[in-house]
Amino acid sequence: DLLKTGAWLGGALLLPQAGVVAAPRRRFPAGFLWGAATAAYQVEGAVGQDGRGPSIWDRFSHTPGKVKNGDTGDVACDSYNRTAEDIALMQRLGLKSYRFSIAWPRIQPTGSGAPNQKGLDHYSRFTDALLKAGIRPLPTLYHWDLPQALEDAGGWPSRDMVGRFADYAAIMGRSLGDRIRNWAMFNEPMAFLSLGYWDGVHAPGRKDPASFLRAVHVVNLAHSAAVRAMRSGNAGLKFGGAFNVSPIIPGSDSAADQAAAQRFDKFTNLIFAGTTMTGQYPRGLFPADRQEALLGWQAGDEKLLREPLDFAGINYYSPMTATEDKTETDIPGLETKARWSFVPDNDRYQRTDMDWIVYPRGIRMILNRMNQVFGGTPIEITENGAAFNDGPDASGRIRDARRVAYYRDHLAAVADAIADGVPVRGYHAWSLLDNFEWAEGYSQRFGLVHVDFKDGQKRRIKDSGLWYAKYVRAAYPG
Ligand code: NOJ
Repeated sequence: DLLKTGAWLGGALLLPQAGVVAAPRRRFPAGFLWGAATAAYQVEGAVGQDGRGPSIWDRFSHTPGKVKNGDTGDVACDSYNRTAEDIALMQRLGLKSYRFSIAWPRIQPTGSGAPNQKGLDHYSRFTDALLKAGIRPLPTLYHWDLPQALEDAGGWPSRDMVGRFADYAAIMGRSLGDRIRNWAMFNEPMAFLSLGYWDGVHAPGRKDPASFLRAVHVVNLAHSAAVRAMRSGNAGLKFGGAFNVSPIIPGSDSAADQAAAQRFDKFTNLIFAGTTMTGQYPRGLFPADRQEALLGWQAGDEKLLREPLDFAGINYYSPMTATEDKTETDIPGLETKARWSFVPDNDRYQRTDMDWIVYPRGIRMILNRMNQVFGGTPIEITENGAAFNDGPDASGRIRDARRVAYYRDHLAAVADAIADGVPVRGYHAWSLLDNFEWAEGYSQRFGLVHVDFKDGQKRRIKDSGLWYAKYVRAAYPG
């Protein structure tokens, strides 16, 4: 088995043995936060309503050839206008927590200056409605919809973004901090920066490795600056991130591949999550004499970077592999010297319709791995889920048995991680609703609830949603 835990990263990250052998009773702690997640551009639609400004995803999705089938988020699930309907669905699923994102361009249509009151009012009303329904709101401040004006002024590679993001965060803290305690800052920084600034397949569509690295540093600084700005206005607030992380499996047992896997783990799993905890980038990732130039580092940045998280959020979908690769990457000086990919084609593993392998043990592996980094900080799974594109049958029922199995097996692995001693306090299925899956448009469905985009955004709870509701009720009878 390629993914045998014993072969994983040369034993450095072995699971605690006791946990591997025995997890006799799969239990979740009392008060466990059962949830589901969405993001503004993926579900809200209403892009021209109430003074919202344009974002980089409006521009990108309206550029021919960038998104499958020319899909855009113009209407999406129309969740902006269907908050009552969506909250009623959450109640039917028995959710205790809802992770959603705030659209920065609704708050500051051009990315800076006085807030747009209509935007603030919308999220304020939404927050009140969630609380009234007994659901904890968990907002994400940045889920990829950067105001276009800020991209035009330089975007994430520009250090000015630190102040811009902190201002926006402070506005939200003032507006909702009296009712919302927990805040996730950036969603998947490695994903949006690598796809958006390095590979160019997501907005803003730049292919510039040097800008990517500078943006990494700016986002790390922006995270910490925003936390400080919000904390100074309200000492009771709690902060986390939503980091996309994966167990990295060496391509073979060779020492070279194991070393490559360790380097890639540092790069992809630690460059954000580890840096905010310690104020330092993982050692050995950059050549010491070039690190400052590559990142745009300025004297004193280590103090600005360090801002330990109150809770850690992780998004898990699939493991990745790494093999040694001596050819220079297109970031000269970046010492990963590894070729990385999703687990290569073979028929050993089930795949989702996105073609990602289904590997439930991976969530237990990465929870144990990240617990080392977070040092006992409470962890929430901010996303986990799968694209299976089953639609309604003649009677209107959506028999998505593969998604039911996916959640059953991943939740069992989360329970195992808890038995290993990882302090997991919440879980959010991605996603509440089928929605706009970025460059894949509406072709990939991740929802517990089916959305008929051709029939007035009609919602129908899938078999997986009914299953999740039962699971939540059984695991959390309170
Ligand atoms: C990662 C992102 O946070 C979310 O926006 C996306 O839809 C899912 N994972 C699935 O790819």
